[in-house]
Amino acid sequence: MVHTFYGCIRQHPRLGGIFERRLAGRWEEHLPKMEAFWQSVLMKNGAYKGKPVPAHLKQKELVSTDYGEWLSVFRPVIRELFVPDLADEIVAIAERIAQSLWLATFGTPGANPPAELTSQSSEWSGSCW
Ligand code: HEM
Repeated sequence: MVHTFYGCIRQHPRLGGIFERRLAGRWEEHLPKMEAFWQSVLMKNGAYKGKPVPAHLKQKELVSTDYGEWLSVFRPVIRELFVPDLADEIVAIAERIAQSLWLATFGTPGANPPAELTSQSSEWSGSCW
């Protein structure tokens, strides 16, 4: 799941460049970290010990719509790899995390995350998005 997702997001016209600039020479540490993150989230095995909010606050080039773009890559990858019920659960979890990261990055008191961060259908198109 992690490797398929990154195979796709690295091709995204905007987000791909953000990841490449930030992670140049560090992909070998990032991918195992993300495997640990998703194991912790989905299997509650405590494998991940990091702090996602500061890791994203540091990225000054992020704009509000990037989290919706991230999900538009994540959803079809997950729907391709998992049976529908499980895919729905994983997407819903990712949407909640994306909403909380959005609030941490762009939220002002009383702000609501954009509609793109809540559940919506998306079809796998045969390419990454
Ligand atoms: C706006 C879309 C996003 C972009 C462009 C983005 C980009 C990045 C980048 C470049 C890093 C590496 C930071 C570094 O090591 O310097 C990172 C770390 C990480 N991202 Fe994202 N991310 C996005 C959304 C998300 C979402 C929605 C999730 C969770 C569902 C997530 C989970 C993580 C985690 C767990 C880390 C590792 C943090 C750490 O412990 O170092 N990201 N992200």
